[in-house]
Amino acid sequence: MAIETSCDETAAAVVADGRRALSSAVYSQIEEHRLYGGVVPEIASRRHTEQIIPVVRAALEEAHTTLAEIDAVAVTYAPGLIGALLVGVSFAKGLCLQAGKPLVPVHHIRGHVAANYLAHPELEPPFLCLVASGGHSHIVEVADYTGYRTIGKTRDDAAGEAFDKVARVLGMGYPGGAELDRAGREGDPRRYSLPRPKVTGSPYDFSFSGLKTAVVNLAHNAAQKGESLHTADLAASFGATVAELLATRFLAAARDLGCRTLACAGGVCANSRLRAALEEAAAENGCQLYLPPLSLCGDNAAMIGAQAYHEYRAGHLAGMDLNGYASLDIDRNWEVGDYL
Ligand code: KG4
Ligand code: ZN
Repeated sequence: MAIETSCDETAAAVVADGRRALSSAVYSQIEEHRLYGGVVPEIASRRHTEQIIPVVRAALEEAHTTLAEIDAVAVTYAPGLIGALLVGVSFAKGLCLQAGKPLVPVHHIRGHVAANYLAHPELEPPFLCLVASGGHSHIVEVADYTGYRTIGKTRDDAAGEAFDKVARVLGMGYPGGAELDRAGREGDPRRYSLPRPKVTGSPYDFSFSGLKTAVVNLAHNAAQKGESLHTADLAASFGATVAELLATRFLAAARDLGCRTLACAGGVCANSRLRAALEEAAAENGCQLYLPPLSLCGDNAAMIGAQAYHEYRAGHLAGMDLNGYASLDIDRNWEVGDYL
């Protein structure tokens, strides 16, 4: 049984052998946060508190199982909104106490990577993974199921953050990544020439804030002059630029490391231009690319259960003093008291 409450989705799932999701229940709070143009942490914590019991019940029912039959309870303990994480962590402890089950702490981004194990039975480490979500843009070497090395990362905004900000400036709702993607489908990706920021001396790092600001400035200048922008073309140009930056640096890292097995993880992996750019670049370089299905790109608890299987087997269990952590590198392995 896996529980995920790191942001604005209250989620629970039952996963067998780290590869099969027997159920996956998600309560999305997004409609409420949309009113404020972003996730309001206190509201997120409160909704998790209200929804966690119905969501866990739904996951058990959908899997036709009971808590007694579950081997272990897994929970996302980092990174994320601290108040939101603590709801899941505390609830998972309660379940463990009540049912006498071990507690497995799972890193949220490890979960995103593990979404691929649910979709691709043949995928096994080692592989190189591009992680692109609302809070992260990383290139990670997955050495084994619980061993990671960060090869590159963003120096400022995450790709999803940049998508959401640009979408907002173009008058779209929150989170605007998916809407911006749709708006740009028919647009001309060459209409607007946008900057492609590099990080000097770090060929695998990203920087999206200059690109984001360039689009924001375009929009503001146009508004000041009373001109209108071509939304579809601007959305297409921005999407194509982000996709190109992510795909070229990811493939450069793969080439330099001699890694031919690639995967992608996180909400931004649902982006149509990024998926196409990765497919094309992987094919050109003779690499095997694994993309999670759209249903597993965003936050869910099935991916947490998929990773929990390997953490459990590696003996990464937590005691009843488990805490939540707002930020934590993916390559830190769980040890009791390590993060206090
Ligand atoms: O992985 P995720 O669900 O949550 C985090 O752990 O952050 O990622 C959410 C992010 C948001 O910024 C959202 O706008 C973005 O993923 N996103 C997309 C698309 N679908 C979701 N960005 C671009 N294109 C999409 N199709
Ligand atoms: Zn996530």
